[in-house]
Amino acid sequence: MLKSIPKNYQPSPDLLQGKTILVTGAGDGIGATAARTYAAHGATVILLGRTVKKLESVYDQIVNADHPEPAIYPIDLEGAKDSDYYDLADNIEKEFSCLDGLLHNAARLDSLMPLEQYDLKIWARLMQVNLTAPFLITHACLPLLKKSDDASVIFTSSGVAHHGRAYWGAYGVTKAGCDNLMQILADEVENHTSIRSNSIDPGAVRTRMRRLAYPAEDASLLPTPEDIMPAYLYVMGSDSKDFTGEIFSVK
Ligand SMILES: NC(=O)c1ccc[n+]([C@@H]2O[C@H](COP(=O)([O-])OP(=O)(O)OC[C@H]3O[C@@H](n4cnc5c(N)ncnc54)[C@H](OP(=O)(O)O)[C@@H]3O)[C@@H](O)[C@H]2O)c1
Repeated sequence: MLKSIPKNYQPSPDLLQGKTILVTGAGDGIGATAARTYAAHGATVILLGRTVKKLESVYDQIVNADHPEPAIYPIDLEGAKDSDYYDLADNIEKEFSCLDGLLHNAARLDSLMPLEQYDLKIWARLMQVNLTAPFLITHACLPLLKKSDDASVIFTSSGVAHHGRAYWGAYGVTKAGCDNLMQILADEVENHTSIRSNSIDPGAVRTRMRRLAYPAEDASLLPTPEDIMPAYLYVMGSDSKDFTGEIFSVK
């Protein structure tokens, strides 16, 4: 069952003051907007992504707005070695000592195609970027999340995660897998850590990925990443501290 955020939710301006939050896929789309929004609410954001120019642009926007200076962590989730994820955690520990938030946002869609013609390289790539990488980042960062007195881990779900849909192949499977991973984490850490683990299904949002899936639709009718930020703030901040193991819908 999908959960909604409170109607007309108004986050406090300092909701994330003093928190360190890692955002994956922070250079574009929903991830870039979430990074800027978390910084605007007081967080120091670690901008993880594969295109340095895009990460630098988000960095500049945050600094120019006088929000806490972010950090940039370039990594290609497709080609990264297992050890790169533990290096990431080591670097975060050296710089920040703990982690209060983790938004698993980076993902690929590639092509929609029927199973019978499914491209095996695309299958493997989507498994790596959309599912194995969030697992490895979570695995590497768990000791840092445990050090926080209120940590929120957010996985990114999708409408095609809740029920399999023709042609969505590996993308749908990885999104369903992320929801399952989110619930496993929630179940394992509940009662003996202050870590919450939830998913957000952002719905249809005006980004490059949506354009790839629906090139013919009128994108001007879709919500923008900014429109859906109340949900991203609610689930990241302490206003949602009583919830874990839930899939939040933005609608
Ligand atoms: N938009 C929608 O309607 C919609 C609906 C349901 C779920 N979602 C989910 O929402 C999340 C954000 O999607 P979006 O719509 O904002 O898509 P987007 O604009 O395409 O952004 C995807 C982000 O992931 C990064 N990324 C992709 N492959 C990567 C890799 N190998 N290593 C590191 N980073 C990588 C991209 O980096 P580059 O820019 O450098 O490629 C980009 O920053 C995804 O999890 C998506 O599945 C979106």
